[in-house]
Amino acid sequence: MTGLVWVDGQPFSPLYGDVYFSRHSGIDETRHVFLRHNRLPERFAALPPGGFFVIGETGFGTGLNFLCAWQEWQRSAPASARLHFVSGEKHPLTAADLERALALWPEMEAFSRELLTQYRYLATGWNRLTLAGGQVTLTLLLGDALETLPRCEMAADAWFLDGFAPAKNPAVWQPALFQAMARLSKPGATFATFTSAGDVRRGLQEAGFAVEKVPGFGRKRDMLRGKLAAPPEAAWRPPWYAPPPPVKTGTAAVIGGGIAGASTAAALARRGWQVTLIERHQELAREGSGNPQGILYAKLSPHPTPLTQLTLAGYGHTLRLLDGLLPEDRAVRGACGVLQLAYDNAENQRLAALADAGYGDGLMRLLDREQASALAGIDLPAGGLFFPHGGWVHPPAVVQALAAGVRVVKGRTVTELRREADGWHLPGEGEDIRADVVVLAQAGDSGAFPASAYLPLHKNRGQVTVVPATDESRRLATVLCGESYITPSRSDGTHTLGATYAPFAGDLDVTTADCATNLDHLKNLAPTLHAALGAGKLDPAALPGRASLRAVTADHLPVVGPAVDAAAFNTCYARLARDAKLKLTDTAPWLPGLYVNAAHGSRGLLTAPLAGELLAGLIGGEPLSLPAPVLAAIHPSRFLVRDIVRGKS
Ligand SMILES: Cc1cc2nc3c(=O)[nH]c(=O)nc-3n(C[C@H](O)[C@H](O)[C@H](O)COP(=O)(O)OP(=O)(O)OC[C@H]3O[C@@H](n4cnc5c(N)ncnc54)[C@H](O)[C@@H]3O)c2cc1C
Ligand SMILES: C[S@@+](CC[C@H](N)C(=O)[O-])C[C@H]1O[C@@H](n2cnc3c(N)ncnc32)[C@H](O)[C@@H]1O
Repeated sequence: MTGLVWVDGQPFSPLYGDVYFSRHSGIDETRHVFLRHNRLPERFAALPPGGFFVIGETGFGTGLNFLCAWQEWQRSAPASARLHFVSGEKHPLTAADLERALALWPEMEAFSRELLTQYRYLATGWNRLTLAGGQVTLTLLLGDALETLPRCEMAADAWFLDGFAPAKNPAVWQPALFQAMARLSKPGATFATFTSAGDVRRGLQEAGFAVEKVPGFGRKRDMLRGKLAAPPEAAWRPPWYAPPPPVKTGTAAVIGGGIAGASTAAALARRGWQVTLIERHQELAREGSGNPQGILYAKLSPHPTPLTQLTLAGYGHTLRLLDGLLPEDRAVRGACGVLQLAYDNAENQRLAALADAGYGDGLMRLLDREQASALAGIDLPAGGLFFPHGGWVHPPAVVQALAAGVRVVKGRTVTELRREADGWHLPGEGEDIRADVVVLAQAGDSGAFPASAYLPLHKNRGQVTVVPATDESRRLATVLCGESYITPSRSDGTHTLGATYAPFAGDLDVTTADCATNLDHLKNLAPTLHAALGAGKLDPAALPGRASLRAVTADHLPVVGPAVDAAAFNTCYARLARDAKLKLTDTAPWLPGLYVNAAHGSRGLLTAPLAGELLAGLIGGEPLSLPAPVLAAIHPSRFLVRDIVRGKS
């Protein structure tokens, strides 16, 4: 909560006893302090076509600085260049307060309106907002900047230091913040701040910035600006998880036409890559991403584990993406919320702890049995946790919409990956596809090539059952889930029940036993609904269903990142077997231009699109959309490192 109040129509923070911007003219102050003293107009204009510029900020507040930078960007930067703005904020404004604050600047209306369409579904941690058709990317780091910035993967060209006056908020103007800024800066990166406080000046100098005192705005006599003159010595980090050298925008081949492949292809195409998306079936989304209804359910832990951080960031990202992609017509999308039922005592306690975890205002709320039943439109056996923004989508529609802007080659099974002097070749019948970058998005088959055979991917079979809606079952107004799930009816008059979970034994036929299991699970989940569907009398052998595969890993996390030469990797880091804490510095033996986006298990709709965005950023050397510990947790090399340390390789 911001605790923001309105004084004379201006936003004010009683917590810090300070204003969000100058009462006289916030815009002129922003332009003077942050834009002019970082020389942004000239630097934007000097960018090469297709280049990008990165601004870091402490204190997003009302977003006024961001909007001014974006406006200047539109005026000065080449049309094909892109702006990244990464901003830390501890007390995010509600959308209503943001709207009210930005309404003070009618000249910024077009920018404010677009920001407001994306300023939603925000959660603690990393939030990626895509604006101006992908030309402008805002990464909001929600939390204390002293905790978020050090976990950031970025190299800034310029900094805006704006976290309330140092006398009113000394906690943020700390040496640790300036050191993190220096570490996350390109050589020569600039900064500007409205304050001229001595502690700030000294702190920035000690971190390696050359600092100048220059005239401030309005009644403020002085302010500070400067540039990184003495880059800090790089602190040790595990080289096996460090990003590989960036690749210049060129051609990319993405193998696999499911949600992971289509998301990656779309994210690369937005950055100017010439992408070919290759799918072995005659149509996209014929395997894991082919179910009639997939639910958007953020299965979270009350502890911010890497999986929970990934799911939270992915949930908001997918919802923001879908808002611009699919209509809410109950044919391809139902934005009806998801109700997680507290089916036993342990689950009741877990959900209560989750509701208390403080992951984001309005993301979830606890309901008792009466409230839950009223909301669902069906009598329920228990209350639960309601996620109002969740719902369901028709995954093939998402995949098709994402792939709409890229070249798609269907009916082609990639059987060989060959690295030659001019890049990767995917030989086969017909055209020999050549690409600078290849992304393996083949779910459980991503390890099918010698180069990727080291990925320990497993296949898991799942079956959904489709049941005809009845007059009574049509009252179901939200997705219900517990150990199984049921969706509200689609416009075609069917519900989807899911899903079974079993090791893959080579068979994807729809089985009567799995249908019976799904019906049984519904009986436990919502007996009244089971009765309303007449499910006791339905013949499981006659019900339509669909069986497909999930790709999974032993640690339940996806596999997203660059690929390595596994044999060379094992040799390079063999010494970790004797001492896992050795601070080795050898660069990992990357397979240049080869990346993976796979193993999204049971929640690919939430994790695969963000993973696609992450990979596209990683490939080009941009600020990344997840914190460093999560990047390590999903890194393809984690299995190799674990095996070396355990003496298994
Ligand atoms: C029964 C079931 C229910 C589920 N329910 C949900 C849900 O409600 N919500 C949710 O978020 N997730 C759900 N999931 C999980 C979700 O469907 C997956 O995580 C997601 O679809 C994975 O997408 P993908 O792109 O990685 O894989 P896929 O969609 O399987 O795509 C991989 C593609 O690669 C292609 N391919 C493979 N090898 C080659 C090759 N050599 N050459 C060319 N093409 C190749 C395949 O043909 C396939 O189209 C469910 C999964 C199952 C099985
Ligand atoms: C002066 S306002 C920023 C104004 C903003 N740049 C704008 O354009 O509206 C300062 C912001 O810093 C945020 N803040 C204060 N302490 C912080 C911290 N430790 N980490 C991150 N943000 C912080 C406040 O919540 C507030 O939104």
